[in-house]
Amino acid sequence: MLSAAAAAVAVVLLTAIFTAKLALDYWLRLNTDSGNKRLPPGSFGWPIVGETLLYFRALRGGKPESFIAERMDKYDGRVFKTRMFGHPTAVFCGTAGNKFLFGNENKLVRLWWPPSVHKLFGRCISTVAQPAEAKRMRKILSSFLDPDALIKYTKTMDLVTIHHIKSLWQGKDKVTVYPITKLYTFELACRLFLSLQDSQLISKLSAQFNVFLKGVINIPLDFPGTRFHRSMRAADAIRKDLRGILSQRKLALEEKTASPSQDLLSHLLITSDEDGRFLTESEIVNNILLLLFASHDTSCSLITLVIKYLAELPQVYDQVLAEQMEIANSKSGELLEWEDVQKMKFTWHVVSEVTRLTPPVPSGFREAIVDFNYEGYTIPKGWKLLWSTASTHSDPSLFPRASEFDASRFEGMGPIPFSYVPFGGGPRMCAGKEYARLEILVFMHNIVKKFKWELLFPDEKIVYDPMATPAEGLPIRLSPRDSQNLYEK
Ligand code: HEM
Repeated sequence: MLSAAAAAVAVVLLTAIFTAKLALDYWLRLNTDSGNKRLPPGSFGWPIVGETLLYFRALRGGKPESFIAERMDKYDGRVFKTRMFGHPTAVFCGTAGNKFLFGNENKLVRLWWPPSVHKLFGRCISTVAQPAEAKRMRKILSSFLDPDALIKYTKTMDLVTIHHIKSLWQGKDKVTVYPITKLYTFELACRLFLSLQDSQLISKLSAQFNVFLKGVINIPLDFPGTRFHRSMRAADAIRKDLRGILSQRKLALEEKTASPSQDLLSHLLITSDEDGRFLTESEIVNNILLLLFASHDTSCSLITLVIKYLAELPQVYDQVLAEQMEIANSKSGELLEWEDVQKMKFTWHVVSEVTRLTPPVPSGFREAIVDFNYEGYTIPKGWKLLWSTASTHSDPSLFPRASEFDASRFEGMGPIPFSYVPFGGGPRMCAGKEYARLEILVFMHNIVKKFKWELLFPDEKIVYDPMATPAEGLPIRLSPRDSQNLYEK
């Protein structure tokens, strides 16, 4: 009896030792120069957290490129190692780094997001492990977000914008741009994705999203009091509402009181892949959660930044206004059409230059799926790989006088390939780039036609939390441009 117990204890002990040895070998393989591998130079920083907090500090200080530039100078300007979110990470620098990562998706690398993203969003386009699954979801979503599909939403975007400006800007001499623009981009997404018009429900969802957002790029400590915990609770509440909306829509589609093409929700419910497979209900809810997040926080950040730069650069504002008035004068008060938006070339160059100087999304991740060599260094399988928008955008060898605003950089062929990457690149490039372009241009058309503005805090700081955001929300003083026929379309 005793010897049986002793044998059992011995087996447990041996198993524990064997497992610990395997874990240690794996950790050493990931974290040290082993064998004849030559890892990129750099520092892993503190155990587990590594240099995550230093990177966060650069983000919150509004200078994500400073973290990278310091280490490029110190170690190697092509690639260096660090540790982020508990993982050994190689930071790929410059156009060559961007090209390498974007060009090797599913060959040497694949998309990676920190664990907080997986926990919050569940199974959706950005978190599914299998490339084929991601491709399938992306195809279904893209058929709603591609230019061909967006053409029919231009008028609705214009209508929602006019309504927003009338209700939240008209008659005010001061507004705080970031929070009200956030309501605008959220309301627009709710309208186009879910056909929601109930302002109470939209406000409730919007408040939940503001809590949710703060945990997305964070350390996933899920206990009361943490940002991540609050974010998880908000995600649960949003999902509950989305499930309710989905059930009502299914019924309405069956009863033919809703249209199969009225919005993203109907589109996802009725669209199957090439093999006739539909998304499950939880995949639909998770993807809508992702799209609501991806669409409104990014665009709101960019619109706010454009307002900031136009206040600082009155001659650029005048040129944008001239272009928009020419379009407005060519119409007799009808809503904007897709063709009108294609004429907003100078305005788009201005938006692009703002995006270069202050990219709303500062960086993104990939993961090595095999050991590979890059610039003479070994990048081990499992390492996380960071690319940085802010870093190439501020490189003076790619953008002469990089800190100066110059919209003409986008004329003709524009910046050289892989130097301007605000929407990422390769097969995982932002799926909503065209939607964002349309939304921002429609907004700029309507806002410059009605107002001029000046900054109430001229040197307001921009912080990344996680998107580029003015520290005080960008309060401005508004002056109506033309008090006659001001709010007529
Ligand atoms: C100014 C606005 C926006 C910026 C700067 C932006 C930026 C980005 C970036 C940097 C990525 C990661 C790309 C990569 O890793 O290569 C991304 C992914 C994504 N974005 Fe955007 N985005 C914007 C607006 C939007 C909008 C309006 C939508 C939806 C309507 C959207 C939907 C998505 C989706 C679904 C992904 C994930 C794609 C995938 O995993 O395959 N984004 N975006």
